[in-house]
Amino acid sequence: MCGIVAYTGSRGAQQILVEGLKKLEYRGYDSAGVCIQDHKHLGLMRTKGKLVELETALQAGPLAGNVGIGHTRWATHGAPSVMNAHPHTSVDGQIAVVHNGIIENYSIIKIALEKEGVVFKSETDTEVIVHLVHKFYKARTDAGEPGDLAKAVSEALTHLEGAFGIVVVSSYEPGVLVGARRGSPLVLGVGDGEFFLASDVAPIVEHTQKVVYLDDNDMVVLNGTYKITNQANAEVRREVQNIEFSAEQVARGNFEHFMLKEIFEQPYTVLNSMRGRILPEGTAKLNGLNLVNQEMRSIQRVIIAACGTSFYAAKVGEYLIEELSGIPVEVEYASEFRYRNPIITDRTLVFVISQSGETADTLAALREAKQKGATVLGICNVVGSSIARETDGGVYLHAGPEIGVASTKAFTSQVTVLTLIALLMGRMRRTSAEEGMKICKALAKIPDQIKEILLLNDQIKSIAREFKDKENFLFLGRGYNYPVALEGALKLKEISYIHAEGYPAAEMKHGPIALIDSNMPTVVIAPTDALFDKMLSNMQEVKARGGRIIAITDAEADLGKLADYTIVIPKTLHMLTPLLSVVPLQLLAYHVAVMRGCDVDTPRNLAKSVTVE
Ligand code: G6P
Repeated sequence: MCGIVAYTGSRGAQQILVEGLKKLEYRGYDSAGVCIQDHKHLGLMRTKGKLVELETALQAGPLAGNVGIGHTRWATHGAPSVMNAHPHTSVDGQIAVVHNGIIENYSIIKIALEKEGVVFKSETDTEVIVHLVHKFYKARTDAGEPGDLAKAVSEALTHLEGAFGIVVVSSYEPGVLVGARRGSPLVLGVGDGEFFLASDVAPIVEHTQKVVYLDDNDMVVLNGTYKITNQANAEVRREVQNIEFSAEQVARGNFEHFMLKEIFEQPYTVLNSMRGRILPEGTAKLNGLNLVNQEMRSIQRVIIAACGTSFYAAKVGEYLIEELSGIPVEVEYASEFRYRNPIITDRTLVFVISQSGETADTLAALREAKQKGATVLGICNVVGSSIARETDGGVYLHAGPEIGVASTKAFTSQVTVLTLIALLMGRMRRTSAEEGMKICKALAKIPDQIKEILLLNDQIKSIAREFKDKENFLFLGRGYNYPVALEGALKLKEISYIHAEGYPAAEMKHGPIALIDSNMPTVVIAPTDALFDKMLSNMQEVKARGGRIIAITDAEADLGKLADYTIVIPKTLHMLTPLLSVVPLQLLAYHVAVMRGCDVDTPRNLAKSVTVE
């Protein structure tokens, strides 16, 4: 998804912007650009493809100046190209804008502007913004009044529908940057005599720890100091926060890819997600939920809305909450939930789950649920994100920044947090203290058990080598491990571009069984729970058709000739197995993708944070 970085201060802007854009690469992009203001001139450089193209172009023709805006674009309107790359400039080349989001009414504005003689240079929705700003700026100067960039931006914003985070620079007002947001994130970094604006803190953190998360409809003007105004143009104060994580945490460390680093972080990130939240009496303490016990007890139904990996974590949550609390749970794709007419009463509790806290569909689902009067709670990783701020309460994952586009550590932290929520709700209803304590004890062991699984990395790598050239995979699981099968298939297809399907194991005979042959490996998640024997039968069915099996199991017993490869994970309670069984699947997908030469951290066509519908 598009990334914005902007700088104003006394240092050269070019280097800061390019380095900042590199920190935003993980969001996914297809082109990039910068615009730097130097006295009465704006210097523009845009390239298609990876950032190295932009760097090379800037080496050949460096741009001087201490104020500038930069952008990585992920195409929505108009193909990836230099002309469609941001920044976009006004007709006279004196004003430039970068934008993240979608202007929904852009075609109406475009037609109106074209009638006024504006010639558009790109196919983007963004370009209307800069022409509107220019129009309002000129209207003032043509009337003999002094130009006012901030006023022109503010006026332009009143014409825009949709979602945006924008930053505007102009050679009419040297040194000034104007930023604004509605629906898309924008963070202000407050340095020593310098300021930054960015889509998230990653490009800011190496320069300053002090940030201000702008609210929806905020506009900020930077001109040696900063001033934030709201939609009513009234000045507002927003809290200056200290960023929780260091630049080092954002960096890749010694790992070849962020994804591998994040897989290996899981013993610590899972621990962080439960730290201080487990009580000795076998329940959980989740202060952020903001629900008094009475409200919690009166809940009759739970809905969880999410997308992607967060959706699969939600599916595990469904099983957990129903088993421990007896409250019926429905899990919905956020994109579906928002467009139907969901039944919500005042006894319905809605959770939205989002690693980034910025996924447009999940944010819209949250707003829809609130609109219908539900209490909406968030499970997010990114502190201060839109979803975290708009929910009535929630639980942070505390998993640290997740940079790899394919989500890994966020999944295990989401499942950990959902376990705690299920425990809390369960202990208010039908889970005994004894059962609660048993779960807490087992949960506390999970971080060390993940460490044990990570020791199997080499074994999993050699299995990956064996299967790396296959073009189809089937993942089977039952009960708690059905969502894990879905997540395992998603991981593989996201980063290795292999077609993979996740299925409930028993459902295999109603379709996928027709596909099985020696070229279609099947990954089976078969812990020794109540469904173990049934799983063995499903494996027999695969074997009987010449299929090859990779089994993930905690069985001490030999799976005999049923599995071609067996990855043994430690034993835990059946409800906690997803926290363990998913780890070998993450590693398998990772190694297969690396061996196929795929761009693991920034896979094609995908974005880390999908801030458009
Ligand atoms: C994108 C990412 C996925 C992620 C999904 C939901 O598709 O590529 O990895 O699971 O968005 O993101 P969220 O931030 O809402 O959890």
